[in-house]
Amino acid sequence: MTDTNPTSDPASGPSLENLLHETRSFPPSEEFAAQANAKAGLYERASAAGEEFWAEQARELVTWQTPFTETLDWSGAPVARWFGDGTLNAAYNAVDRHVEAGHGDRVAIHFEGEPGDTRTVTYADLQQEVSRAANALTTLGVRTGDRVVIYLPMLVESVVAMLACARIGAPHSVVFGGFSADALRSRIADAEATLVVTADGGYRRGAPSALKPAVDEALAPKEGAPETSVQKVLVVRRTEQEVDWVEGRDVWWHEALAAADPVHEPVAVEAEHPLFILYTSGTTGKPKGILHTTGGYLTQTAYTHKYVFDLKPETDVYWCTADVGWVTGHSYVVYGPLVNGATQVLYEGTPDTPHRGRWWELIQKYKVSILYTAPTAIRTCMKWGDDIPGEFDLSSLRVLGSVGEPINPEAWMWYRRVIGGDRAPVVDTWWQTETGAIMISPLPGVTAAKPGSAQVPLPGIAATVVDDEAKPVPDGGGGYLVLSEPWPSMLRGIWGDLERYKDTYWSRFEGLYFAGDGAKKDDDGDIWLLGRVDDVMNVSGHRLSTTEIESALVSNPIVAEAAVVGANDETTGQAVVAFVILRGEHANRASTPEGAAEVQKELRDHVGKEIGPIAKPKKILVVPELPKTRSGKIMRRLLRDVAEDRTVGDATTLADSSVMDLITAGLAVPS
Ligand code: WTA
Repeated sequence: MTDTNPTSDPASGPSLENLLHETRSFPPSEEFAAQANAKAGLYERASAAGEEFWAEQARELVTWQTPFTETLDWSGAPVARWFGDGTLNAAYNAVDRHVEAGHGDRVAIHFEGEPGDTRTVTYADLQQEVSRAANALTTLGVRTGDRVVIYLPMLVESVVAMLACARIGAPHSVVFGGFSADALRSRIADAEATLVVTADGGYRRGAPSALKPAVDEALAPKEGAPETSVQKVLVVRRTEQEVDWVEGRDVWWHEALAAADPVHEPVAVEAEHPLFILYTSGTTGKPKGILHTTGGYLTQTAYTHKYVFDLKPETDVYWCTADVGWVTGHSYVVYGPLVNGATQVLYEGTPDTPHRGRWWELIQKYKVSILYTAPTAIRTCMKWGDDIPGEFDLSSLRVLGSVGEPINPEAWMWYRRVIGGDRAPVVDTWWQTETGAIMISPLPGVTAAKPGSAQVPLPGIAATVVDDEAKPVPDGGGGYLVLSEPWPSMLRGIWGDLERYKDTYWSRFEGLYFAGDGAKKDDDGDIWLLGRVDDVMNVSGHRLSTTEIESALVSNPIVAEAAVVGANDETTGQAVVAFVILRGEHANRASTPEGAAEVQKELRDHVGKEIGPIAKPKKILVVPELPKTRSGKIMRRLLRDVAEDRTVGDATTLADSSVMDLITAGLAVPS
C-alpha cells in the first residue's frame, strides 16, 4: 500500500542544509552553571559506571519497598528487566514519601480551570485524595493487574485517577479527550479494561465540551464488536452538563470518594509490574499499546526531570503544558515532577481563552520558573506577536523546554528572546512514547545550546545516527536515529503483541532500537532530528498514522481509494493532506467548487468521528488517480510535492507516468 520508505533519504530537505551550519551558540551563564543540578561530571560518571550509573539514580531518586540487587537483565532482549528483584509503589513515591519527609504543606498542584476557577492542592491533600480514590476503585471491584481506562480533561482528578491506579497496581490507559467514541472503544477493547474514569465534560474555548456521551457510545453494543469488558464508569462532575446515566454501571466520582476511607496502604509491586499502557500511532492502522513498567520508568522520569529542567523542588514552580492524554503528560506532568516533589501548574484550557495572553498571565500569576511546551505552541504565539507576552512579567522563568517535534531555529530564538528574556536556557528535548523519558537534550548548566538541535544524548544514554547498513555516520553525515543500549524507561513491549514490538523497533538493524526518526550529525557531532522516516505524521506534536486516516477515509462509502501525507505547515509542523478517489456516481460531485467543498466537509467530519477531531485532514483533494509504483505502492513523496505546492519530483518509477499530470491538471480547477 505504501513505498517502504517514503522519505528514505532523510537528509534530502534543502533548507536543513542551512540549519546545519548554525553558528549561534548559547553557553550557560556562570551564575546558572554554578547552581545547576547537572555538572559536566555527570557525563563522566555515566560513562565510567555503565549500568551501575542507573542503579545509583534508582537508589537516589526513588524509594524502594524492597531494595533491588540486580540492575539490568537483558537476557530476554529486546524486553529488558531493570531492578528486577526490587519492589516499590509509584503513588507512594509521587506523594506519600514527601508527606512523610515533612513536605505535606508544599503545593503539589496549582490548578487553574479555563473559566478561571482555581484549586490549590498540597502533597497532604493529594495523599488523602489519591487514597480515597484507590479505596473507591477497590470497592468498585478493581484489582491489582486490572486495566483502567481514563478519559478525562486536564483536571486534578486526572492526576489523582492515574495515581490511584498506580497505588493499587492497576495499569492505567489514558485516552486523550480529543479521541472519538470509536477510537475509545478500540482502546478499551485492546486493553480489556474493566473500569473507565471520565467526566461529564470539560471547558474548552470558553464553552463546556461533553465527554461522557463518547464513553456511553463506546460501551454501547455494536454490531460486529465484542461485548464490552467494562463493568463500571466513574464520572467526575466538572461542567454539570446533563448526562445519561446507566444504573448499576455509572457512579459519581465525588460520591464514591466521599464514601471512601482517606487512608490506604499502597500496594508494593515488582519493579517490572506494568504501570501503564499508552496507545500511540504506528505505521499500520491499528494503534499500538505501548507498555511501561514501574521501577525503571520512575527512575528515568525523575532523573531527566531533575537534570534537564534543573528542578529545585523547594523554590521552583514548574509548568508543562502537555495534556495527560499524551506521554509528555504522563512523564512530565504526573510521574517525573511528583516523584521529585515539585510544585506545578495544571491548566485545563487553551492558550487563547479568554485572551491570547492567558499562558503568560498564568506564568506571571504563579511565578512559573520552568516552562515545558511544544514548538507548535511557540510558533502560534510568535504569530500572535511579541506585544502579547510583552504585557506580562515573565522574569520568573529560568528554564525553557521544548518537545514533540523539531523546533526551527527561528522559533527557538523567539522562545529564548521573547519568553526567556535572553536569559533562560532553552532545552530541546527529543524522546518518544516508547522511550518513556527524555533521551537527547542539552543540559542547561553544561551544554552550549544551539538553536534547532537536540544535540547530545543525556548521561547514561547511547544514541547515534547510522546509515542503511547500520554503520554510524561521520560528523556531517545523515541517516537514522538509533539507540544502542537499553535504558530504564524503555517500553517493555506492545500490549498483547510481542512480535509487533520486535518487528517495529528491532528488526531494521540487528541489536539497535530503531526510533523511526531521520537525523543528522553536524560538524561538531551534535544531533539534529529531521522528522519521521515512516508513515507517522507529527501534527502539532501529536502523532498520527497516515494508514489509520486512510482506513478511516475508505470506510466512508463514497471513497474508493485514499492516500494521506503530512505536508509541511508553518504552524503545526505538519498538516494532514488527503487525496481521495471517489466511487462511481460520487466522482462527479466534486466537479464544482460547491460540490468539492461539500465532499470535503463530509469526509473531514467522517474522520473526526472515526478517530477524533485531531485527525481531521486540513485539505482533502479529490483526484482521478493515485500515483503508484509497478508493484502497486502509493508514492507519497510525489503527493507531498503536490501538497506542498512544489514541482513534482522524479516520477519515473510510476507504473503510469502520466498520472501526476492528471492529478495536477485536475487540481488546477476546483480544489
Ligand atoms: C518527534 C513525544 C524532533 C519525533 C515525546 C519522535 C521530536 C516523535 C522531538 C515522538 C524533538 C519528539 N525534536 N522531533 N525534540 N520530540 N519528536 O511518541 O519524531 O508523541 O519520534 O512522544 O515526536 O512522539 P510521541
